[in-house]
Amino acid sequence: MNTRWLALVCVLFAVSTQAAEEASAVPAAPATAPAPAAAPAATPAHRPLRQNVIPAAPAAPTDPETFAGYVQAPPFKVVPQKDKIALYPCSQCHKAMTPNPTPRKLEAAPHQAALKHGKGRLWCLNCHLIDDRDFLRTVRDQKVDFDDAYLVCGQCHFNRQRDWYLGGHGKRVGNWQGERTLYSCTHCHDPHDPITKPREPSKAPPVRAGLQRMGPVAHESGKVWERQSHGKVETNNER
Ligand code: HEC
Ligand code: HEC
Ligand code: HEC
Ligand code: HEC
Repeated sequence: MNTRWLALVCVLFAVSTQAAEEASAVPAAPATAPAPAAAPAATPAHRPLRQNVIPAAPAAPTDPETFAGYVQAPPFKVVPQKDKIALYPCSQCHKAMTPNPTPRKLEAAPHQAALKHGKGRLWCLNCHLIDDRDFLRTVRDQKVDFDDAYLVCGQCHFNRQRDWYLGGHGKRVGNWQGERTLYSCTHCHDPHDPITKPREPSKAPPVRAGLQRMGPVAHESGKVWERQSHGKVETNNER
């Protein structure tokens, strides 16, 4: 009995203080005559400039943190790529060559002459280290191994990279449980021409004994919205 009363009193008290707070939070509305050129308040809001506190100098910019993966993503290994690069180590030729940073079409190189990636906005040395051709680089000039190319790609394609870390893009090999092994971006995307090209679908799987294969499906052609309207589409604009 007693405790119930106490609880009720507490609730009432809480409500009343809240109401009071709300009331005081409402700005004093100009209920009667608004006074735009009102007389100055009793305490002058003005103070000499000299008394202003000089703001402290902003802290010197610190080096941004190096990206170290997503904490939510479980640890993983990446399938090595370096052993598939025919020209690796690049230093076989490049240690004897002076690097040439001028963007140009590479006529005399044993590599692709021009880049499709980035539609003219990228150049080789955005990704390849100038003074050690056996490595890739980040935009902050950090050395990146060819096997860790996903760190280079993720600087610009961070959404895909996050999906890749968390399992929404790319491909896992091996077990789904235990240690995860992922294909690196360059396993599927040519870094110099990365758009995935359309390809032939693989052959249909064999049919189980006793069953008949379905006849060829007549795929309708044309745009979905044209197909469904069976004729001319009346749009709002034409009405
Ligand atoms: C067989 C020799 C050879 C090998 C191996 C080689 N390159 Fe080159 N590379 C060249 C030549 C020659 C040029 C200059 C072409 C020109 O100036 O037109 C060149 C130019 C380049 C350039 C343009 C910038 C510059 O300094 O001229 C890049 C970037 C590059 N190579 C990257 C690589 C990478 C990465 C590898 C290893 C995966 C590699 N190369 C392996 C011969 C080679
Ligand atoms: C977007 C970043 C990027 C740019 C720009 C880029 N590369 Fe690469 N390049 C890579 C990556 C990543 C690899 C490793 C590929 C792999 O793992 O199979 C690579 C591999 C190579 C290789 C060895 C494999 C091959 O395809 O022969 C050569 C040579 C090369 N790059 C030269 C160049 C040259 C020359 C340019 C400029 C015309 C250039 N790259 C521009 C990222 C880049
Ligand atoms: C310095 C920034 C940069 C880096 C690093 C980079 N890319 Fe790109 N990438 C671009 C730009 C810019 C485009 C062109 C987007 C467009 O067409 O509007 C592009 C396009 C692409 C596309 C085609 C997407 C589309 O919408 O057409 C793919 C796939 C891709 N990149 C994969 C990669 C991979 C894989 C790597 C690592 C080897 C990589 N990128 C590294 C800037 C970058
Ligand atoms: C197992 C192969 C595979 C791996 C690994 C992979 N991708 Fe992709 N990626 C694809 C395919 C296939 C598509 C095309 C999907 C589509 O058209 O919807 C694609 C699409 C993309 C696109 C958009 C291109 C477009 O045309 O819309 C970008 C950007 C991209 N990938 C970047 C990356 C990056 C960055 C990584 C590494 C962190 C990566 N991918 C790893 C297969 C892969």
